[in-house]
Parts: sequence; C-alpha cells; structure tokens
Amino acid sequence: MSFKVMGVTAGRKDSNSEILLKEALLQCQNQGAEITMINLRDYNIIDCTGCTACTHGMSSGKYVGCTLDDKDDKKAIMEVMLNQDAVIFSVPTYDLMPSATYLKFMHRNLSYESAFLEEIGAIEHKDRVGALIAVGGSTRSWQSMALEAMQATCFTNDFKIVDMFLATRVPAPRQTLLHDDMISRASEIGKNVMKALNTKASERKWLGDENMGWCPNCHSNALVLGEPQWDGLYFPIECQVCGAGGDLEKTEDGKWKFVIAENGLCRDRTTIEGRGDHLKEIMHTQGGFYTEENLSVVKDKIGKYKELKFQTIEIKK
Ligand SMILES: Cc1cc2nc3c(=O)[nH]c(=O)nc-3n(C[C@H](O)[C@H](O)[C@H](O)COP(=O)(O)O)c2cc1C
Repeated sequence: MSFKVMGVTAGRKDSNSEILLKEALLQCQNQGAEITMINLRDYNIIDCTGCTACTHGMSSGKYVGCTLDDKDDKKAIMEVMLNQDAVIFSVPTYDLMPSATYLKFMHRNLSYESAFLEEIGAIEHKDRVGALIAVGGSTRSWQSMALEAMQATCFTNDFKIVDMFLATRVPAPRQTLLHDDMISRASEIGKNVMKALNTKASERKWLGDENMGWCPNCHSNALVLGEPQWDGLYFPIECQVCGAGGDLEKTEDGKWKFVIAENGLCRDRTTIEGRGDHLKEIMHTQGGFYTEENLSVVKDKIGKYKELKFQTIEIKK
C-alpha cells in the first residue's frame, strides 16, 4: 500500500507557496505516494467561535466534536487530512506570521486533539509526518514567527515535523521561479518526507539542517524568558514553540546556545505525553473554575460589564 501525502497551501493561485508545495509533492509522487493537494482559499472555513465546547468536553472526559462541524468545510477536510501519512504545509507570511487563512483553519484543530481522543479511546494512535514551507517577501527578519507559528499549529494532530524551509525574498507572484535553489530545496522537503515515512515511527528524526534555529528539540528560532507554570514548574528559558525548558550557555567560541535541562522536555508539546500534561492544566484551571463560589462571584460582577457600552461602528448595509 502506498503512503498518502497531502499538500495544504493558503497562497495565491499558481504562485510561490503553491509552486514550492507542488515541487515537494511531485517528489513524493515520484516515490510512489498517493497525493492530495488543497488550497484553503477554495474552501469555506469559519473562525473558531471560542465556544470551548470541545475543551469543556475534554475536561469532563467526553468527545463532543466541534459546534461548527456541519456549518463549513473543516470536517470534510479533516476526514481526509487525518487519514494521511504525511502533510506538507506551504503558506505565505503576512505580518511576520502565517496568513490568517492558514491560522483560521488550523486553530479549529483543537476539537481533534489527539492526546485527548486517544486517552478516551475515541481514536487509535497514528504517527503522522509533517513538513513546513513558509514563503515571504523579505528575509528571516520579517518572517520571524512564520515557521514557528506553523509548527505550533501542528502538534494537536501529531504531525511530527521532519523538515522546514523558509523561502525568503520572493514578494512578487511566481518570483520563486527565478530561484532554482528554492525549487531544489522544496524537492528535498518531499524527499525528506518520504525518507521519514520509510523509517519506523519510533526512529523518525529531524531531517532538516541540524543547526537550524535555537532549539535542538524542534529547531524553532524563538525563545522566551520562562515564568512559573500553573503547577510551579520553572525554567529560565523556554522554547516558544515546543516548550523545551533550559538555559542559555556560552560556548567555547563565545556564542550563546540554548541547553535543554535534564527534565526540560517534560512539557514537550510535540509529544502526546507533553500535551497530556496541558490537558491536566485545562482540567485544573478551567475545570476548577466551576465551583458554586466562583460562579456566584462572576454572577455578581458581570452586570457592570454587560451594561457598560461604548460607541461602536455601525455598518450600513
Ligand atoms: C498582507 C500581506 C502581508 C505581508 N507581510 C509579509 C511579512 O511580514 N514578511 C514577509 O516576508 N512577506 C510578507 N508579505 C509578502 C508575501 O509573503 C509574499 O508576497 C509571498 O510571496 C506570498 O506568497 P504566495 O505567492 O504564495 O501568495 C506580505 C504580503 C501581504 C499580502
């Protein structure tokens, strides 16, 4: 049986993100994979309303789906996407981040959180492979959160990211076609996806540039100063993406590097166990909210804010 590989883009038609994605997918197809490709711009995807029905269900151990399930195309896409062995996402950078079309689609993955669904036995575990391409008009400096935000949206469904490519300085439509090196790099993304698929899931590892980014765990290029977490766990420095904890150390040649602490991967969001811990946090913080005492305080205080109205903007239709 051949591997199933899907490409998901959110870029302009026949432009940079689509071209690089097609090149990666072509490589997978040449190695026998069955390919599906979609551009999210062709679908109706509604914004997550923030109703939190899914996480409330999780707090009480029930799968309730998404309240928008029959209102747009998300569910139909997920039925195909979660059945894939690998997915390659190729997305334009807008304002340093992945475009809103992509984020809107991926934020709706919360109701499909596999750490939860597996825990309650609603789904079987599936090890999926993922790869990311972020396309921008500028250099790394103006794409500072693109790959990082893309990877952050991939944990929920266990897409293990094996390679990432930041395609820089291609602002104009199809400009990437002037850069053979970019086309080859996209093709290598496809090769690495196939290499990962042909490796036993437990032995799959990062196949991109070993020195990419600050974080030796997820290769993101973004760190934050740590603060005590909900249960007191504290690391001086955390990887903004996977949550690895550690500190900065100076190397012999005077450069800084991020060194992960001995227990620094205990909250690794790329793993089911790490996200399982976050489910405990949700149960503690959101679940712990629903006491009679808390609800009565909220009932007493909310009136002020419901009645307080400011001038707004009326749109004449
Ligand atoms: C609203 C908007 C914001 C953008 N912001 C950035 C940015 O912050 N950094 C960057 O490198 N490119 C930025 N760009 C440029 C696009 O990433 C670039 O045109 C890219 O090639 C689009 O990909 P596509 O051809 O696949 O649609 C922006 C483009 C638009 C339309």
